[in-house]
Amino acid sequence: MIDLPLTSDRLTIRMMRSEHLAGLVAYRNDPEVARFQDWEVPFSEAMAERLIIGQADLDGPSNDAWVQLAVEVRGTAVGDVAVGIHDEGRQATVGYSIAVDEQGKGYATEALGAVIDALFAVPGMHRIVATTDPQNAPSRRVLDKLGFRFEGRSLKSVFVRGEWVDDDRFALLASEHAGLNHTNVVTPDDRA
Ligand SMILES: CC(C)(COP(=O)(O)OP(=O)(O)OC[C@H]1O[C@@H](n2cnc3c(N)ncnc32)[C@H](O)[C@@H]1OP(=O)(O)O)[C@@H](O)C(=O)NCCC(=O)NCCS
Repeated sequence: MIDLPLTSDRLTIRMMRSEHLAGLVAYRNDPEVARFQDWEVPFSEAMAERLIIGQADLDGPSNDAWVQLAVEVRGTAVGDVAVGIHDEGRQATVGYSIAVDEQGKGYATEALGAVIDALFAVPGMHRIVATTDPQNAPSRRVLDKLGFRFEGRSLKSVFVRGEWVDDDRFALLASEHAGLNHTNVVTPDDRA
């Protein structure tokens, strides 16, 4: 569906494999990264291994599968973008995490932007969706920067570590993406 690796100004985005396991375990266990995410904490090496083995036969996002892509800076994983393709390849759902030490550098925006560009280059891709906790301001900001449109809030709809929390839905249509007057690559100059 999309040819990996993707490259942007600073990042390489490729399928998450065993060499990314230690990084994944480290940032998934960081309370700041896990706070609004529904994975189990502690997130063990065995869980990471299952995730990576579960996608060993895939070489990229594919229909009815959920894949984790590693986001690398100079060969070191700093986070991931997750992609789920559904509706016979016409819609996708995305998620993203960046290790705390690497946050605030524009990496999530750059990585997600590159993934979105690649997904919308696939013939027939119609809509991309992301959801986030309303309190997750950095995540919302990433979606705003990439042109996602707020679609609505589902109250107490996601069960995260013993608590029902609200969930905001954002989406971007292919037609909206085509009309955006920017590339999805954020350069240090753009951010100055
Ligand atoms: C959300 C997340 C991926 C963003 O990663 P990142 O690489 O820091 O993102 P970027 O640097 O591309 O952009 C972050 C933006 O949020 C802004 N921001 C950071 N903290 C903020 C806050 N408390 N309030 C408002 N905006 C905030 C930054 O200033 C930046 O915007 P700017 O470029 O206009 O200055 C990262 O915070 C993360 O991994 N969080 C934990 C996992 C998570 O919640 N993922 C999203 C699940 S839906």
